[in-house]
Amino acid sequence: MIKKADPYLYTAKGITIMSKIRDIGLKDEGLKKISWVKRNMFLLPSLEEEFAKTMPFKGIRTAVSVHMEAKTAYLCLVLKAGGADVYATGSNPLSTQDDVAAALCSLGVNIFATHGCTAEEYDGHLADVLSARPNIIIDDGGDLVHMMHTKFKDYLPYVLGGCEETTTGIHRLKAMAAQKELKFPMIAVNDADCKHLFDNRYGTGQSVWDGINRTTNLLVAGKNVVVAGYGWCGKGVAMRAKGFGAKVIVTEVDPIRALEAHMDGFDVMSIDDAASLGDFFITVTGCRDVIRKEHFTKMKDNAILCNAGHFNVEINIPELEELSVRSFEARKNITGYILADGRQINLIAEGRLVNLAAGDGHPAEIMDMSFAIQAICAAYLVKNGRELTADLHKVPESIDREVAERLLSLKGMTIDSLTREQEQYLNQGL
Ligand code: NAI
Repeated sequence: MIKKADPYLYTAKGITIMSKIRDIGLKDEGLKKISWVKRNMFLLPSLEEEFAKTMPFKGIRTAVSVHMEAKTAYLCLVLKAGGADVYATGSNPLSTQDDVAAALCSLGVNIFATHGCTAEEYDGHLADVLSARPNIIIDDGGDLVHMMHTKFKDYLPYVLGGCEETTTGIHRLKAMAAQKELKFPMIAVNDADCKHLFDNRYGTGQSVWDGINRTTNLLVAGKNVVVAGYGWCGKGVAMRAKGFGAKVIVTEVDPIRALEAHMDGFDVMSIDDAASLGDFFITVTGCRDVIRKEHFTKMKDNAILCNAGHFNVEINIPELEELSVRSFEARKNITGYILADGRQINLIAEGRLVNLAAGDGHPAEIMDMSFAIQAICAAYLVKNGRELTADLHKVPESIDREVAERLLSLKGMTIDSLTREQEQYLNQGL
């Protein structure tokens, strides 16, 4: 029974929690989504069971800012099972799912997240989470850590450390660490092998196309797909586009990655040359203004644009707006921009991460791996945070291996081990 005492206080299972959500009445749909992901995960359910016994987060206030959909909700519940007081929000206004937020609230997680909130409300939600004086921070893109260092400096001494989920957040942390601005240890979860090799490549590869396909309901086969950025995410997006029968063009700024794309069988050219050829454009660079005015002016009528990078700055939307004589909702979650000569350029989900703002994000099995690393690293920080320097740290290799070994074992897969002779052979010097 959930009672709402005032706009923000809810009583769930006899415990009063604070939450800012759209509508608690949506909780049943959210609960279904959470149990579906749990049924399709291996690692997190095993950690939930283990943490319930070992209680690694007993008395620990944990702040989470990750795309607020069912997989993230389950991560929050796993931390809670381990004794954490969880304060959670989303990491993008369009990726928050209101039913999932309602479900978390009903399960006793302090959750501050509403779909489509304004930039001001979004910052307000981050501030609500940080007001709890967190000991552990789980961030996705760096907004929470940034606000902690600017508006919540007084609470810095409470923080044992944090974990960062994505490439863009790692870039921001590297810059802070280089300027000696980082005040507590952060772990670069994104850079773990069990994260970026799977999540960025296969997760983004599949879910970006899920978002595009369900939003546009258009054929991909035979079309020209332009993928800007051939990093871990771009490789996945290009690979799956090829699988759909598209002709894939890759644009890059890194000569090595460009050669990689070439030898993977894709056309490589500048965005200037690709602009007039593409039927679909997907930016996934972590950079800004990758597609801009001079490119919009060359595009085919009905070109479809979307972004899968963390921030909605990869496509220069203000310039697209300037060029267009009018814009309208061409289909749900697609804005059609009409240029002066009558051409229409279509932008999915306001240029926000297409797989989350126009879909449900990565498959559950992928987030199982990423979030298992998050959860284990968070427990590691509770134990070791005070001994670590205020810097950006790698995920300990033992954690990466533990996640891979655990998953293989939970899936009933066996691999070989080196014999003593093989080990000697591999380790012999001159
Ligand atoms: P990465 O660093 O492996 O790859 C980025 C690539 O973009 C690099 O090869 C770089 O040379 C290239 N690039 C940079 N500026 C460019 C430009 N102006 N034009 C063309 N290419 C350019 O990064 P990763 O892991 O692939 O991530 C890319 C972005 O996607 C980041 O913002 C990251 O946070 C985000 N991300 C999104 C996910 C999602 O679910 N949509 C999942 C994981 C990461």
